[in-house]
Amino acid sequence: MLSSLQNKNAIVTGGAQGIGKETSLLLGKRGASVIVSDINEKAGYEVVEEINSKGGNATFFQCDVTKEEEIIQLTEQFAIQNKRLDIMVNNAGIANKPTFMHKVSTEVWNQLILLDLTSVFWCQKYATKLMLKDKLGGSIINVSSIAGLGAAPSLGPYCVAKAGVIELTTTGALEVAKSGVRINAVCPGWTETAILDVAGERGKSAMEKNIPMGRLGKPSEVANLIVFLASEESSFITGSVYRIDGGTRS
Ligand SMILES: NC(=O)c1ccc[n+]([C@@H]2O[C@H](COP(=O)([O-])OP(=O)(O)OC[C@H]3O[C@@H](n4cnc5c(N)ncnc54)[C@H](O)[C@@H]3O)[C@@H](O)[C@H]2O)c1
Repeated sequence: MLSSLQNKNAIVTGGAQGIGKETSLLLGKRGASVIVSDINEKAGYEVVEEINSKGGNATFFQCDVTKEEEIIQLTEQFAIQNKRLDIMVNNAGIANKPTFMHKVSTEVWNQLILLDLTSVFWCQKYATKLMLKDKLGGSIINVSSIAGLGAAPSLGPYCVAKAGVIELTTTGALEVAKSGVRINAVCPGWTETAILDVAGERGKSAMEKNIPMGRLGKPSEVANLIVFLASEESSFITGSVYRIDGGTRS
């Protein structure tokens, strides 16, 4: 039987839709108290309502992960309320509009690196500090992408940011491994969420054709892996990077 997440406190960034929403719902179902965090207040509250209507315990916290002070507020509330932070899912992210590297503007580059990499650095940093202070371990899961493991023409800034998230994960994990704070990364392949809208219908069908299993992933399938890494079932796993991509190798 799977271990309960009862008495565990979790934060999910970008928890209002897609992979973050499914992760929030599953954490709630497994008994964790979930803070659904997002810039999208309306959709965030809907996820909270869905968790609570099924007997779970969730609250919404509006946080724009591109603002360091808002991430500090998001994590600090645990210290203020004398609560532990057990699980931190750093999921919020966007993809750049398809553009070749030599045409990417500095503005687009800075925006992508800020939202997809620097924000994860801040979230990991403040969550780790809090978990180390409590001396009770914890699990941090960073959402990278298979784009961070290989080349994806037209998605250069996204690839670079997601590759950075992998290094952030592996290096950060080894630095605190003895403390019981575990840090792992998941690398989804193309998954059916709004983030794929930048590719259009033709782009999506080309992605599908390139996936050996012949279909896009489901956000709930990625959530299963994230929640496994959040739970006791993965207690000897840290600094690891997991593909979840229907067999995609290019
Ligand atoms: N869907 C895929 O194919 C795929 C593949 C690999 C990796 N990923 C990664 O999975 C993660 C989740 O993406 P998704 O596919 O569920 O996309 P999504 O667009 O459905 O969800 C992203 C969420 O992040 C939130 N968000 C955006 N900017 C934010 C900000 N500044 N502050 C806080 N929240 C913000 C959005 O409001 C939204 O709720 C991302 O990091 C993405 O890069 C997705």
